[in-house]
Amino acid sequence: MKRYLVLIILLLASWGCSRPQGFTLKKILSKHPNDPKWDVPLPNEGDAIQSYFMQPYTYLGSGNHCYAFKSEDGQYVLKFFKQKHMQTQSLVDYLPLPAKRLFYPMERIKRRAQEREESFTSYKIAYEHLQKETGVIFLHLNKTEGLLPTLSLVDQQGQVLEIPLDNMEFLLQKKATLAFEHFHSLLNHKEALLDAVESLLRLIATRNQKGIFDKDLQFYKNFGFSQGEALEVDVGEFKLDQPPRDVVEETQEISLQIRDFIQENASHLLPDVQKRIEETLKTLK
Ligand SMILES: Nc1ncnc2c1ncn2[C@@H]1O[C@H](COP(=O)(O)OP(=O)(O)O)[C@@H](O)[C@H]1O
Ligand SMILES: [Mg+2]
Repeated sequence: MKRYLVLIILLLASWGCSRPQGFTLKKILSKHPNDPKWDVPLPNEGDAIQSYFMQPYTYLGSGNHCYAFKSEDGQYVLKFFKQKHMQTQSLVDYLPLPAKRLFYPMERIKRRAQEREESFTSYKIAYEHLQKETGVIFLHLNKTEGLLPTLSLVDQQGQVLEIPLDNMEFLLQKKATLAFEHFHSLLNHKEALLDAVESLLRLIATRNQKGIFDKDLQFYKNFGFSQGEALEVDVGEFKLDQPPRDVVEETQEISLQIRDFIQENASHLLPDVQKRIEETLKTLK
């Protein structure tokens, strides 16, 4: 019994020490078997899906749940999911049965299975109900054969990795300029700035009116703009089974974040921004 405990502590310690920081291929490889629940139709231009992957994608950034890479032509973002949040295998799987019974981390496995369920459900909601609002172009949650090419992925160190996309779980999305960068670039273009504010509020309202709930309403990190239109770039927190939120209340939440930003960066524009917010909210009631 004690020996098992020592063995487990040693295994966990060596695993913890040897885990590299940042992106590695291993962190996005999934061992999950296919599930028909995660099958999604190909986009309309199904035949052209390969063409998105004929160029290299370079490391762009990461959030809590995914690593993002941008295409060489700057038009697309490819997101691979951090598997550590969704892994349901455990080192304990390799121990003999009595030890397994004692140490099996049932709660953690359940939590991760649920996290995968919720994230994948959210990605599907984005793909099936919010393509325009999120810029999601393609979703690949089950492994396939002979559908997708091998992709050249350039990591943070500039190393090129060849990734067989058929084996990967990922999401392809339009590249956006993050909302705060876009707003910064418009501080001297008042009308365009006001249009951007309105576009962002209407985006939140459209999603709300489709009955889709979003837990992660962060203007700074999770919204962007592409060709003047607001997009929600973080698509990991959508739910269809929540009680609806009042549309004005929800748009007001993002309005407060916008007002704080304007107050800090161009306070002379605050009255105009405030007026556009109020006019937009009025049309939503
Ligand atoms: N479509 C996109 N265009 C530009 N940058 C993006 C896009 N999607 C994600 N990013 C960048 O990658 C980061 C992580 O992506 P996100 O979808 O928010 O993942 P997570 O669920 O891990 O938070 C974002 O905060 C943003 O900086
Ligand atoms: Mg995010």
